Amino acid sequence: MQTEIPTVIKLTRGVPPTEAFPTDLVIECFENVLRTFADILLQYQSALGFAPLRNALADNAKAEPDQVIIGNGSLQLLAFLAEAILSPGDTVIVERPSYDRAINIFRRAGLNVVGVPLEEDGVDLAALKEIVCRCVPRLFYVIPDFQNPTGVTISLAKREAVSELASKYNFLIVEDIPYRRLRYFGEDVPTFRDLVPERVVELSSFSKVLSPGIRVGWLVGPADLVQRIGKIAEDTYITPNMLGQGIAYEFLRRGWLTQNVERLKTLYRPRLQAMLEALERFLPEGMWFKPQGGFFVGLWLPEGAQVERVAKIAEEEGLVLSRSAGFFPDGDSSRFVRLPFCALSEAEIFEAIERLARAVSRARGNQ
Ligand SMILES: Cc1ncc(COP(=O)(O)O)c(C=O)c1O
Repeated sequence: MQTEIPTVIKLTRGVPPTEAFPTDLVIECFENVLRTFADILLQYQSALGFAPLRNALADNAKAEPDQVIIGNGSLQLLAFLAEAILSPGDTVIVERPSYDRAINIFRRAGLNVVGVPLEEDGVDLAALKEIVCRCVPRLFYVIPDFQNPTGVTISLAKREAVSELASKYNFLIVEDIPYRRLRYFGEDVPTFRDLVPERVVELSSFSKVLSPGIRVGWLVGPADLVQRIGKIAEDTYITPNMLGQGIAYEFLRRGWLTQNVERLKTLYRPRLQAMLEALERFLPEGMWFKPQGGFFVGLWLPEGAQVERVAKIAEEEGLVLSRSAGFFPDGDSSRFVRLPFCALSEAEIFEAIERLARAVSRARGNQ
């Protein structure tokens, strides 16, 4: 069946489409887990999260349960982490571009946020070394797999080099891996935690592999740090949302997460392919790194096209783009556009990029 192309296409937020949600299975899990654990799930509990889910996540991460805290999404755990170990004026390093909400969290905590340029295989190591020598950071926040907003995955060689630097200069690596399981091509690369577990705090989430609305994310790190974060969590909300954690636990326990991830890969893989093909076809003068998974392709517009102007013209063409400046802690964002592909059909993706190419051409004065 041919679906109609909407008059306005949104290339803004990176959220899963409705068809990604296994609604009936979630209903079944919810009913079942509530019947079994009503006394726990309907009550105030430890701020560290639902114990059976903590055990399961610890098992998967080859960690001890006291190294895991589960919160209302992983983003708030990042805010708690910043509050627990950083002070205003401390330096944190992020990739440039990076996830805008993480940058906002660091800024709100009064931190000095410094960007390191990205290359096809991850951060520019020479630039990272130069920055680390100039102002030793407290931590490096990195999205190693299918990065938001560029789709870049860091190579093993670069992960090893960054790990060495972290050990030498005594900073923490905070790896945020919500997209890691959504690999459509190629092979997994070891995580930073696989390489230098003592230097790493890992954040992950059910948001991209099950549902963001259940608000369940987790952090794996040293037990004493988890305790400190747990205290901040307790002082903030007493207990995280236990019902969401109950659903996530039951979904995992039944082995349904693995099959759901496979279903999502089948849904998203052709969308990524369509995005890459459309860019080749309509915007060959642009620059992008070919992602192997995740939600995003990051596009640098061809010379002479400024994103502010392109975005304005794109609206006339029926295309809404996200603002780019938020992804850049520093440096030049004027030619960058994040292209989230997961929530659009292949036909919509081709149409969106054709509209974008027209807007670029008009902005460069060719039409
Ligand atoms: C890199 C990254 N980290 C964290 C999040 C948010 O995760 P959560 O829904 O678990 O708070 C997102 C969502 O877009 C993300 O892209």
